[in-house]
Amino acid sequence: MKDLIAFTRGVPPVETFPNQQLIECAERVISKRGDDILQYGSAAGYGPLREYLAQKYAVEVDRLVIGQGSLELLDLLCRVSLEAGDSVFVEQPTYDRPLVIFRRAQPDFRGFNLCDGQIDIEAVKTILENGTIPKYFYVIPDFQNPNGSVMGLDQRLVLIELAKKYRFLIIEDNPYRHLRYEGTALPSLFELSSDDVIHMSSFSKLLSPGLRIGFMILPKDLSKKMIDFANDTYICPSFLGQAVAVDFFEQGTLDQHIGKLINLYRSRLQALLSALDKHLKGYGEWVRPQGGFFVGLHLSDHIAPIDPELAAKYGLAFSDGRGFFLNGGSRFVRLPFCALTEDQNKQGIERLGEVISASNKD
Ligand SMILES: Cc1ncc(COP(=O)(O)O)c(C=O)c1O
Repeated sequence: MKDLIAFTRGVPPVETFPNQQLIECAERVISKRGDDILQYGSAAGYGPLREYLAQKYAVEVDRLVIGQGSLELLDLLCRVSLEAGDSVFVEQPTYDRPLVIFRRAQPDFRGFNLCDGQIDIEAVKTILENGTIPKYFYVIPDFQNPNGSVMGLDQRLVLIELAKKYRFLIIEDNPYRHLRYEGTALPSLFELSSDDVIHMSSFSKLLSPGLRIGFMILPKDLSKKMIDFANDTYICPSFLGQAVAVDFFEQGTLDQHIGKLINLYRSRLQALLSALDKHLKGYGEWVRPQGGFFVGLHLSDHIAPIDPELAAKYGLAFSDGRGFFLNGGSRFVRLPFCALTEDQNKQGIERLGEVISASNKD
């Protein structure tokens, strides 16, 4: 039996965690600020981290909510603002967990296909003109999970124009924005129009997911509702991780750390893309990402969906592609490459080529 190569979860590799520095940060914050961070506190998050983020994003501090990861905040947002039957628009494919979170509110869900990484904007306009206006349009504009694509500037501007015209909010989920391996960054939707956009992001991919630190910047009425709800539910998030993170940022080494991540991930992505070119030509299409954690493989219609049992025999595991779609997706394969070595990425794709050829013999 071959060693398992798991293209399942988009987690960072453990060797990227800056353990030694985090130990020093933790020691410093507990000895200097222990009374604050070991006590209950504000449901909005640890004050110094909130202020750091407010300054970085040039927003008033009361628009910011920090939680135990950004997904928890998305769940809170849905609980305080989404009712059964409200419309929610999403890209298709999109990150599977937000679909689960939104679905709990029983929304009127509409998915818009990504074609060459861009939303089918004509379909969006048609549905809006016909009177279906979403409460939220959830997008991942930079290095989309699971597709790897970047939303073009034109599309960013059109979406904002539509949000203004039809009065809906865009939720921009942007945890990969700083992990760019080539090319030039586009302005975020939030930078283009902070009144029409809820920005959510996370330190899971820049520092460590186990710290569980995510944040959202929202209109004040919504941030207040979320903070009240959080206060009534769990009082406050854990401040220890947040205090460690803000101390880490104060040391001024975040950019250097991100630089190391970029170098490591760039060569892993290159290994995956070369292997795709070599072994999967003619089997499907994929975006060539300029950053992030994922390449989304769309198998061609004449290729059978991957059979997980057959894949297991070749020592491969994948997430179920259907989870990233409201409907369909059986021929979609998400390929997270960051936690696999270059060699694992190469071998994994070579094996995937063998699985596809074995199940499409005649
Ligand atoms: C688009 C997107 N949003 C949110 C998250 C999760 O963030 P957090 O760990 O802050 O909950 C992920 C993690 O894979 C993600 O890909």
